[in-house]
Amino acid sequence: MNPGQTIYERLGESAGLRSIIETFYGKVVQEPLLAPLFPEDIQPVIERQHQFLTQFFGGPTLYSDLHGHPMMRARHMRFPVTNERADAWLACMNAALQENEVEDELREFVIARLRGPAYHFVNTP
Ligand code: HEM
Repeated sequence: MNPGQTIYERLGESAGLRSIIETFYGKVVQEPLLAPLFPEDIQPVIERQHQFLTQFFGGPTLYSDLHGHPMMRARHMRFPVTNERADAWLACMNAALQENEVEDELREFVIARLRGPAYHFVNTP
């Protein structure tokens, strides 16, 4: 592992991240706790998540350039995010990283970075 690399680079930059996110939403729409929250056309969500995670993991600031300050917790307020949904979200992401053959050490690091925000977005008991 090259310590000088960003997470974005280690995940395979734009194409690597896109593949992980496509696998991830394929799981989200099959997950009974999560699917009802998402629109039928998941493609725009994939696009915005790609922009956001690019920036979150140290790549170009695509999301802020297009949508302004992320304010991610606020953007989730119109959806009932429970602890169980945060667990399910992280489980889908963990499985997507495994399916994309991200090495264990990097996968665990990525999940650890996402765990904070996921539980921070919980807004419903
Ligand atoms: C904790 C469980 C989570 C749930 C249940 C959840 C659910 C959702 C839902 C329903 C949407 C809106 C889809 C739409 O456009 O209609 C959304 C958007 C989004 N979520 Fe989450 N999310 C969760 C965690 C996260 C985490 C941990 C991140 C990243 C750190 C994240 C990043 C995003 C982004 C970037 C968008 C698009 C925002 C936009 O509209 O610009 N979410 N999420």
